[in-house]
Amino acid sequence: MRETGRPGLSQGLILGIETSCDETAAAVVRSGTTALSNVVASQMALHANYGGVVPELASREHLRNIVPVVREAISRAGTAAGHPITFADLDAIAVTQGPGLAGALLVGITYAKALAYGLDKPLIAVNHLEGHIHAVLMEARQRAETPMPLPLLALVVSGGHTHLYLATQVEAQQQGTAAAWTYRNVGRTVDDAAGEAYDKVAKLLGLGYPGGPWIDSLATHGNPRAVPFTFGHIHTRPPREGVTNKKAPTRTEGPHFDFSFSGIKTAVLRYVETHHMRESIAARRATLAADPALTPKSGDLASLCDTQTLDLIASFQYAVVGNLQRQTFAAAEAFGARAIVVSGGVAANSELRRRLQAEAARRNLPIAFPSLALSTDNAAMIAAAGWPKFLARDFAAEDLGATPQLRLGQP
Ligand code: KG4
Ligand code: ZN
Repeated sequence: MRETGRPGLSQGLILGIETSCDETAAAVVRSGTTALSNVVASQMALHANYGGVVPELASREHLRNIVPVVREAISRAGTAAGHPITFADLDAIAVTQGPGLAGALLVGITYAKALAYGLDKPLIAVNHLEGHIHAVLMEARQRAETPMPLPLLALVVSGGHTHLYLATQVEAQQQGTAAAWTYRNVGRTVDDAAGEAYDKVAKLLGLGYPGGPWIDSLATHGNPRAVPFTFGHIHTRPPREGVTNKKAPTRTEGPHFDFSFSGIKTAVLRYVETHHMRESIAARRATLAADPALTPKSGDLASLCDTQTLDLIASFQYAVVGNLQRQTFAAAEAFGARAIVVSGGVAANSELRRRLQAEAARRNLPIAFPSLALSTDNAAMIAAAGWPKFLARDFAAEDLGATPQLRLGQP
């Protein structure tokens, strides 16, 4: 740990860098509250050709993008602040350590390390999942809302993750430093992530990538009760002796609220086969391939699908949202959470927002979602999560490396 950085003289400027998956992102956030800039170079169009993220291509794109994206973030921060901001004005550099793609993470970490070293500024390692949670907390602070009561239950739901965390702040270890956040993982998917299920089902139905926004738009045109999908009981097998199961680490005592989304994906596949939908799916895939201007926001999207397909899509979404809702509120109740935070790419889903908001209101629990721009991967969330670590002087070692399977908190 290097004892650099002068919080006393600082403007509270943290540069955040995020390259864990298919977005090269950089942002400057002031005092963990105000995003002065938030630049995201998305590789979505590139990976869409393959129907998913190709790790080698992602690393190469990050390498190409990282320098211009960081420069743009610094320049836009100056515009927002009303006076030029240079690298010298930064207080620290926060970077995603993991989880994510090894090669992709390495680009951001290597760049951040070099920058921190060259500028003699502290480097802060941030867990990507913690970043998603802090995106919401940062925006709540920006709106000058009263701080969310603790502990809070965070549902992080994206293409790579479906996790429930009980999050709180512990007392500062030393006088003059800030309280650190702690997390306990109280639920996780045992197979696919919710966003992954959206992406796979969309692909199966001949829709575009990523699938979430397509299904979200189309679901409003179907009958959500047409196909009764169910979620069975999840059995988590104890690891066999001598075998480490990375997907199922040793758990702490107490209840857990796990998820499983591979079953519903298979159920959709079976429905497609038994209802002879292959031909219409192939036709839709061809229509979309021929017209790149069609997006999930296009006006007459529903004309791409017959009623049976729209009903299937609405029923899929109804079931997935219902499952996320049940597990989240059951966990909140079991652990006495006093507020709920929802984050990650799937937090952009309109039905998820509507139903979780309604249930939170019924239970008198405050609930917060990120704005759409901060739902998906970005670097403002990394800078925001870096701020309490900066105040607590929790800096990364010089040999910081990428940790693709990095976990957040106690399992
Ligand atoms: O957080 P994110 O940008 O990247 C990961 O860390 O995975 O999340 C991307 C995921 C994709 O699976 C995408 O289909 C899903 O978020 N997504 C949505 C919506 N918008 C994005 N899922 C459901 N409804 C949406 N509106
Ligand atoms: Zn993410």
